[in-house]
Amino acid sequence: MAKPKVFVTRRLPEPALTQLLDRVQADVWPHALPPSRSTLLEKVRGLDGLLCLLTDPIDDPIMAAAGGRLKVISNCAVGVDNIDLPAATRRGIPVGNTPGILTETTADFAFALLMAAARRVVAGDQFVRQGKWQTWGLTQLLGQEISGATLGIIGFGRIGQAVARRAQGFNMRVLFYDPRHPASPSAPPAEKVELEELLMQSDFVSLHTPLNPGTHHLIGARQLAQMKPTAILINTARGPVVDSQALYQALNTGQIGAAALDVTDPEPVPLNHPLLTLENLIITPHIASASRATRGKMAQMAVDNLLAGLAGQPLPNCVNPQVYPR
Ligand code: DGY
Repeated sequence: MAKPKVFVTRRLPEPALTQLLDRVQADVWPHALPPSRSTLLEKVRGLDGLLCLLTDPIDDPIMAAAGGRLKVISNCAVGVDNIDLPAATRRGIPVGNTPGILTETTADFAFALLMAAARRVVAGDQFVRQGKWQTWGLTQLLGQEISGATLGIIGFGRIGQAVARRAQGFNMRVLFYDPRHPASPSAPPAEKVELEELLMQSDFVSLHTPLNPGTHHLIGARQLAQMKPTAILINTARGPVVDSQALYQALNTGQIGAAALDVTDPEPVPLNHPLLTLENLIITPHIASASRATRGKMAQMAVDNLLAGLAGQPLPNCVNPQVYPR
């Protein structure tokens, strides 16, 4: 029997790639940069399955171009904002993602950004390399206290809660805002508050919401104006959750203290973006889940989802289970 035809939009880490190549007829995009839209439109024609990354916008025309055979879209990420989910659901195509396995890694990185911004780790490194270190200075590169500070977590799902657990070790007071989060006895200790109260009281605000129409620009000029002038904003969720222009204004005018971003809008951030002129900003290239072990597990989970979909079985992790008959 002919093997199912699959397009994989980037090389996967091993052993996931070999396992996939053994089971399907795979066309693997060999380049570091994502395929263009026109390439995607051409590559998806006649496919049984698509394994993509968060950099690949998969909308209704792409699904239409695949023709009627497309049985599964497997995204190698937990976030699925690059995929038109209503369109996939309408077409009866299950969409897979990779939840859970990147929770701790991402929370580690959010906390690393929090600490780096609070204690000016990047500025200190540059200070030394630029030959500015002449003596030990009592007021040199002063940062902010982490221990005992108030941390506001926006989005109290798996990753938000993992960040809250780390905060316990620093004796922090934790507030959270998440209209969808039900009170759960297994969640780490944290006080549920309204967004405005969280913004007004927090020394650190860390974002952990998915990107959807309700969270687009959730943090804009009005919200930034409600934050403390010393507050530090950390974003490891999705760039468009924050209005970048408003953030630039808030950082540039000292309305808030600093920001640490692992995600931007757009990605990659253009080199001439005003945010990159600011000294009170740390920025990294969307690497919060980038440990070798976690990226390997994400690839494996994406392959497992893909193979299940090709076999007509329910995906182990499906974001639109409505496609399955009850
Ligand atoms: C995701 O999975 O959505 C992250 O942004 C990348 O790991």
